[in-house]
Amino acid sequence: MALVVRSSHLKRIAVLTSGGDSPGLNACLRAIVRTALTHHLEIFGIRRGFKGLISGDLIPLDGRSVSGVINRGGTFLLTARDKEFRTGKGIKKACLVLAKHRMGGLIVLGGNGSLQGAWELSQKTSTAVMGVPKSIDNDVGGTDFSIGFDTAVNTAVEVIDRIRDTATSHERLFLVETMGRKRGFLALATAIAGGAESVLLPELSSDIPSLCRKLAEAKRHGKVSSIVVVAEGDESGGAFKIAKRIQRSAKGYDVRVSVIGHQQRGGAPSAFDRILASQFGTAAVEALIRGERTKLVGIQGGKLTLSPLESAWKIEKPLDPNLLRLSEILSS
Ligand code: F6P
Repeated sequence: MALVVRSSHLKRIAVLTSGGDSPGLNACLRAIVRTALTHHLEIFGIRRGFKGLISGDLIPLDGRSVSGVINRGGTFLLTARDKEFRTGKGIKKACLVLAKHRMGGLIVLGGNGSLQGAWELSQKTSTAVMGVPKSIDNDVGGTDFSIGFDTAVNTAVEVIDRIRDTATSHERLFLVETMGRKRGFLALATAIAGGAESVLLPELSSDIPSLCRKLAEAKRHGKVSSIVVVAEGDESGGAFKIAKRIQRSAKGYDVRVSVIGHQQRGGAPSAFDRILASQFGTAAVEALIRGERTKLVGIQGGKLTLSPLESAWKIEKPLDPNLLRLSEILSS
């Protein structure tokens, strides 16, 4: 198989991870470094995301820098949410650092906020900028999956399996809160795979009285325990508030709340995330070599894609209506 994508004047590229971490970032960094070296490019890591770009915190990477990282959660480059970067002054500083280091390409591993920052930077620098989607919320446009989502779903489902044991033993109702500040992809997938009785999502208005009726009906039919998955960003204000409302209107329930929280952001990436992250990393480097710029790597309909970088935040992905229907049928 031919390894050379096309001759290019590209000599040196850099990579950074920005925003909340997600499992699989290290696998992606490993693929980026190894692909760059395969194509005889110099590769630098920028520590602490855009913050490190502004302060010029660059480290050279080689094949050994990424040994033994494919199975590790987090990001060995460290990450940050940086407010200064999104100011004109911050972007100007970043452009100067990229120019000073004669950086031909920059790969940004980020969620939709960071990728919007990457796009803003791309409008001011001659360095070619490439985006790679990562987010346990899976809320990045222009890709069906972002790095970390699959692992986060698996983590949440493992928690639900454990909670079901205690919920059944005590005949209790559990509200389990997943992350997902604005979108419910993680909560919906978790609810289906965890066999939850109901799911409350930021995208849909949550009708607590009808949820109470549904739970009461299930009880009448002999269901002694129930699990309701609540996305962090649900309009009712999270699992604790909903638990109080249920407790008030549906007497006779012994309600408990479990917030999974940042556990979903850590841990060894699933095989799916390792493979996805590796494919994204290699695709990003090879796109730069082909002369692409201001693009987002993604996967759509099972195929690797390159979309305009703006897709990351301009395209609002809908929840899959088939999954919504499935969750409705299976929880009845
Ligand atoms: O964007 C990913 C996410 O995990 C959200 O679901 C969550 O609300 C947020 O990050 C929490 O981020 P942090 O605690 O790192 O600020």
